[in-house]
Amino acid sequence: MERFWICGGKKLCGEVQVHGAKNAILPLLAAALLTDEQVYFEDVPDLCDIRSMMEILRHLGCRAERESGGILVESAGMDGCDMPDKQCKQIRSSIFLLGPLLAKLRCAKVPCPGGCEIGLRPIDLHLKGLRMLGVHIQDVEGKLVCRGENMHAGNVYLDYPSVGATENVIMASVLLPGTTVIHNAAREPEIVDLCRFINRMGGRIRGSGSQVIRIDGVKRLYGVTYKAIPDRIVAGTLLCAGAVTGGQVRIRDAQFSNLLPVIDKLTEMGCDIKREKGGLILRAPGRLCAFSNLQTSPHPGFPTDMQSQMLTLATVADGCSMITENVFESRYATAGDLLRMGADIRIAGRTAVVRGVEKLTGANVRARDLRGGAALVLAALCARGESTVTNISLIDRGYDKMECMLASLGAQIKRISDFREEHIHADP
Ligand code: EPZ
Repeated sequence: MERFWICGGKKLCGEVQVHGAKNAILPLLAAALLTDEQVYFEDVPDLCDIRSMMEILRHLGCRAERESGGILVESAGMDGCDMPDKQCKQIRSSIFLLGPLLAKLRCAKVPCPGGCEIGLRPIDLHLKGLRMLGVHIQDVEGKLVCRGENMHAGNVYLDYPSVGATENVIMASVLLPGTTVIHNAAREPEIVDLCRFINRMGGRIRGSGSQVIRIDGVKRLYGVTYKAIPDRIVAGTLLCAGAVTGGQVRIRDAQFSNLLPVIDKLTEMGCDIKREKGGLILRAPGRLCAFSNLQTSPHPGFPTDMQSQMLTLATVADGCSMITENVFESRYATAGDLLRMGADIRIAGRTAVVRGVEKLTGANVRARDLRGGAALVLAALCARGESTVTNISLIDRGYDKMECMLASLGAQIKRISDFREEHIHADP
């Protein structure tokens, strides 16, 4: 088991680079199956979710390997559509492979996916969308057996703008003769990136980023070299690290337009954030002010993946903040650990009311999910004294060597793999 040891109180200052977005690259890796030609993705961070996805591609008979900081994928040798239980249970994004497998092979067998403990995370919208394209789906002993011999283009209406369901339907339809229209589609930047990638391969997709996406089927797609958009959630988390420690951080390649809701909230808390030659620079106030009300919602609303980080910032802001988590039904698991660090948080259903305290106190805490784990690291960075964060394999799913990024900004943080007692003091 690995853990982070952190000594709080250091202002983070300096410059850090963000790399390709996990939530863009995972569907892009799936979409690479849509061509038999080589696809190369540049600037791909080393994340375990990405490694799991590569293992699934190799299990299907594809080439998927790291090559000079990027990933090479070639599906010409794909020889099956039965997905491996172990990796599919590890990562929810395995479900994105339904679309490309059906598009290419007209068949797919996938165990019901896993993911973080942030909610039930059903896949009914994925299945409804695929069925509207003529896919026959049966649950056979816990595996979804999908047959696509009768697939056709058509109209798909999503009851909720699900990111994954939108991506699955896009990938399932790009090679179908005719035009498929997705209504109430997700509008996240990662959807726009997926459509840009498929169009670079020779696809014909219009309307990405809006609620109506039109896909004109084409006969084949071609190999390309592609660089995914920078990770807006990693960038947002680093902005929060600068904000909560009263520092000044410059984030190279962070895209202002993809972070507007986060920039707006951090500005409301007293931060000064500006675009600066291909990135962003944040200057924090001495102490953050509370934000009045934060509601998460699908893009272009406030991203749910930044909710836990903002919860941490609210715990030490001057005043009372309110957060409502509208996307996932249980994404406050981190609150318990924050309370142990001295936070004042009250939760009723989907709403958290946070009364800011002067300082948190270091403690031994545990990551419960990916973004909640990142939020605990932020709390430890601004807390008085030492903390440990355990179960950090969850953090490694979405942050490539988080400790190195933060240490380069002046944080006192170490990854301890063979746990030694002397680093850990009893709870102060
Ligand atoms: C993607 O998950 C992201 N993951 C999530 O990031 C992100 O939080 C989420 O989109 C929302 O932005 C990846 O891209 C790999 P959804 P996804 O389908 O596609 C319900 C992270 O931390 N729903 O938009 O699973 C669902 O339960 C992760 O990087 C259904 O009811 O999200 C949830 O309440 C966490 N039925 C809501 O919709 C379905 O069939 C949003 O889910 C599908 C979803």
